Amino acid sequence: MYVVAERDDQVSIIRLETPADAEAWMAAFVGAYQAIWSEPPYDERFFPDEAAAVLRRSLEVADNITLLAVRPSGVVAGFGIAYPVKGKSDVARDIRGLLPIEDTYYFAELGVLEHWRVRGLGRQIIDLRLQLIDRHRWRHVLLRTSAVRNTSYEMYRKMGFEDTGVYMEVPARRNDGSTRTDRRLFLSMVL
Ligand SMILES: CC(C)(COP(=O)(O)OP(=O)(O)OC[C@H]1O[C@@H](n2cnc3c(N)ncnc32)[C@H](O)[C@@H]1OP(=O)(O)O)[C@@H](O)C(=O)NCCC(=O)NCCS
Repeated sequence: MYVVAERDDQVSIIRLETPADAEAWMAAFVGAYQAIWSEPPYDERFFPDEAAAVLRRSLEVADNITLLAVRPSGVVAGFGIAYPVKGKSDVARDIRGLLPIEDTYYFAELGVLEHWRVRGLGRQIIDLRLQLIDRHRWRHVLLRTSAVRNTSYEMYRKMGFEDTGVYMEVPARRNDGSTRTDRRLFLSMVL
């Protein structure tokens, strides 16, 4: 684990490198993850062990970039998780023919707790992931955003990501306990 960036608001962005690194932050990560994805348009309900598994699994994928925005108090204000797309089999299957799997990197998760938003943290986490990618090995970056084209869509477009026009239906457990799909849109960037 090491510090990638220190901010004036006492938020540091750290990079986790091993599953053991994650344990100290696990409870705070789980809380942030559940809170962020329970909001519209996602309305998703994750059980604590499911949220914890997202972080642990990411750290087991070769060449992952796993970032947490943390405060000295132990709060996790945000997270950014990324790894080669071949580490995410459903997505790799859906983009076959759109991008070459072997040299495409995937931005899997991005979230900032509501209290910490609109202070540049989301954009900074994306910028750091782009800086940390080994450009000798990866030529494309892919991500999914909500098909409703919300704030995150606008943010990624401003940062140079292109709208591929390709959608994927993602099944998830919702806040009301039902399991429904919602539409996600793929955006991509050439490195
Ligand atoms: C998307 C998200 C990560 C943005 O985090 P953030 O820390 O607020 O982002 P930033 O402060 O870096 O803002 C990024 C850009 O979006 C704009 N923006 C952010 N929130 C906005 C809002 N509510 N209304 C209008 N613009 C907004 C900012 O002005 C900024 O644009 P700029 O760089 O041109 O000034 C955060 O809103 C979030 O976690 N949302 C829920 C989860 C989610 O949608 N994740 C992305 C899934 S692909």
